[in-house]
Amino acid sequence: MGEEKLIFEGDLSLLKDKTVAVIGYGNQGRAQGKVLRSNGVNVIVGNVRDPYWDQAVKDGFEVYEIDEAAKRADVALLLVPDEVAPDVYYKKVEPEIKDKEHFILDFASGYNITYGFIKPQPNTDVILVAPRMIGKGILDLHEQKRGYPVLLGVAQDSSGKAWDYAKALAKGIGAIGLPGGVAVKSSFDEETLLDLLTEHTWGPMLVATMLAYFDVVTEEYGVSPEAAILELYASGELSEVAKAMADVGLFEQMKFHSRTSQYGHLTRSRKYYNMVKDVVREAAAHIWNGEFAREWSLDQAFGRVVFERLWKIVTSSKLAKAEDKLYRLLGRR
Ligand code: NAI
Repeated sequence: MGEEKLIFEGDLSLLKDKTVAVIGYGNQGRAQGKVLRSNGVNVIVGNVRDPYWDQAVKDGFEVYEIDEAAKRADVALLLVPDEVAPDVYYKKVEPEIKDKEHFILDFASGYNITYGFIKPQPNTDVILVAPRMIGKGILDLHEQKRGYPVLLGVAQDSSGKAWDYAKALAKGIGAIGLPGGVAVKSSFDEETLLDLLTEHTWGPMLVATMLAYFDVVTEEYGVSPEAAILELYASGELSEVAKAMADVGLFEQMKFHSRTSQYGHLTRSRKYYNMVKDVVREAAAHIWNGEFAREWSLDQAFGRVVFERLWKIVTSSKLAKAEDKLYRLLGRR
């Protein structure tokens, strides 16, 4: 991990004479749009006529149909869900920008470029500014005058200045140039791998472990569902641990736990490491070679059969039912 990978500043004046269209005013679009505007950038919004459109109007933006916004812009931030982005791009954005002398197209996720679902025209700088932060976090940190981590990438450098534009946007959306802010020089492929690998390894392993833990202690040891769920996640201890990991580091935070807990973590993580490494390796290969993207595209093409079935199965699990009962008693639902 070289020092040169880390970027702490960007030159906002590069966006001074440009109109930036935020296409999609959702989680990321609203946050990035508002912060860009408050940093003096000329922002317009492109959206379909849905409640997000109304929100953008309420927030004081000029809002247009997506094709009209793309036509008026020099830069577009494509911030609609990854599954709908190719359709939006080909039907509404590309026809309006393909004949411009130059255009800057920004993504917050590598997915569609990595797998070739979107192939921009040669006149376009294709840049990645991918916040490691949810939209609400971006807005909260902006209030506190603090930055956050972001991954940067360039897939096509038509102007010769694509990296500078990526850094300028990172600054504009409040990621860098402030305490706590850092950009990592990365790529679309790398961002896609990292993002999906989290979603395919420790994320689902955590869910699977919770389900198995719950079933074993309640079915085989007579533990009450209430005690199990509070221990697993309902107490909020898990988020405290995650916060400490981010603040002081993975191993340093372990020192906040009892010695018995440390011994358990150290011995068992050694034991699981080799098993898990093979799982991670296989998941990474399926992401890298496009098999996962094909699998997910097929499910979408067939009306999300697997996606909908699995939602039904988890929501009717014993854990989900016990959780619903507990959360009602606790007044969280
Ligand atoms: P979102 O789900 O909040 O997007 C909603 C927006 O998409 C609305 O403006 C809606 O009008 C528009 N939209 C939905 N379906 C549409 C359709 N069929 N045609 C046209 N517009 C449609 O999206 P989110 O979560 O903000 O994600 C945007 C991008 O940011 C994605 O690439 C995502 O991977 C990335 N990202 C998201 C993060 C998050 O915090 N949610 C974090 C970092 C990156």
